[in-house]
Amino acid sequence: MTPQAQARARTQAHAEAEAHPQAKPQETQVRERTRSKARVLLEALPFIEEHAGSVVVVKVGGAAMEQRPLAETFAQDISLLRHVGVRPVVVHGGGPQVTAMSERLGIETSFVGGHRVTDAATLEVARMVLVGLVNQDLASLLTRHGTRAIGLSGMDGGLLRVRPREGDLGFVGEVERVDVALLDHLMEAAVPVVASVGVDEDGQAYNVNADLVAGAIAGATGASKLVYLSDVTGLFGPDGGLVAEATVTECRSLIETGVADGGMIPKLESAVAALLHGVRRAHLIDGRIEHSLILELFTPEGIGTMLVPDPDPTATGEPAL
Ligand SMILES: Nc1ncnc2c1ncn2[C@@H]1O[C@H](COP(=O)(O)OP(=O)(O)OP(=O)(O)O)[C@@H](O)[C@H]1O
Ligand SMILES: [Mg+2]
Repeated sequence: MTPQAQARARTQAHAEAEAHPQAKPQETQVRERTRSKARVLLEALPFIEEHAGSVVVVKVGGAAMEQRPLAETFAQDISLLRHVGVRPVVVHGGGPQVTAMSERLGIETSFVGGHRVTDAATLEVARMVLVGLVNQDLASLLTRHGTRAIGLSGMDGGLLRVRPREGDLGFVGEVERVDVALLDHLMEAAVPVVASVGVDEDGQAYNVNADLVAGAIAGATGASKLVYLSDVTGLFGPDGGLVAEATVTECRSLIETGVADGGMIPKLESAVAALLHGVRRAHLIDGRIEHSLILELFTPEGIGTMLVPDPDPTATGEPAL
């Protein structure tokens, strides 16, 4: 618009405002709303730039997923990530769903250190529920909300090679190797949605805690972030308050002292492994809050708990020469 045209538009606007004084406040309100929307978008820009092109691993827990309306907003969040060039990988749990099906079948459930003790019958239930129900539901939900998603388990294409985990846990595995090339291929076309079942070298299936799968995938793919969406606000410290930030050493001591208990143990353990593999940040956030993923990734307000590597003891704070 030329300066003359701008001046004409201004004069016209003044004339209209005088002719219709009641219209002015409403118009101002609309303008303010529009401006604040623009501000939000601009605020997100550095965060979008930071993550564009990089892998972000999102682990969504069974409890958070049980709330269907939130599951839909989760699908919108993943769609947004894809559209701004992030390469999301979704890993899901399904603890409550496996427990509920076990109950229906009269199979007892027990946990040791946050891991489900898995005999042959429980393994069958876990595979049926995680791969057959939760995985397919989640992949289809994402697809319906505009993000093509491919559901698979760690057994497909040998994605997750596992070995038995120590302790008398039965068919509980821990991840030995992630086929990153396979994930790279999948990410070209879609968002991989991974059910936490793996396979050993003999083809035996194992139930793996989904947090460990998420941590292993984040470490192997060089993810920029690892986000755990759970049914708590974040990590609670010794005094019961929310911990805003914790280092690797602090995470370890929270496990040792028993402050982190049950399902929180594999989260911290897997986050520590990922941070030691070069993942810059891990976040424990509340999956029950709508759009918590977008809030965490694209706004300056951090929510939940941020887990970070230990400070580098050789770092002086001075720029390297
Ligand atoms: N210090 C702690 N801070 C926060 N939560 C804790 C702590 N110690 C134990 N927890 C427990 O960890 C639970 C989260 O882990 P849980 O395994 O139940 O869920 P999830 O991993 O999100 O779901 P899924 O196991 O289905 O993937 C919380 O609900 C809480 O009860
Ligand atoms: Mg869990």
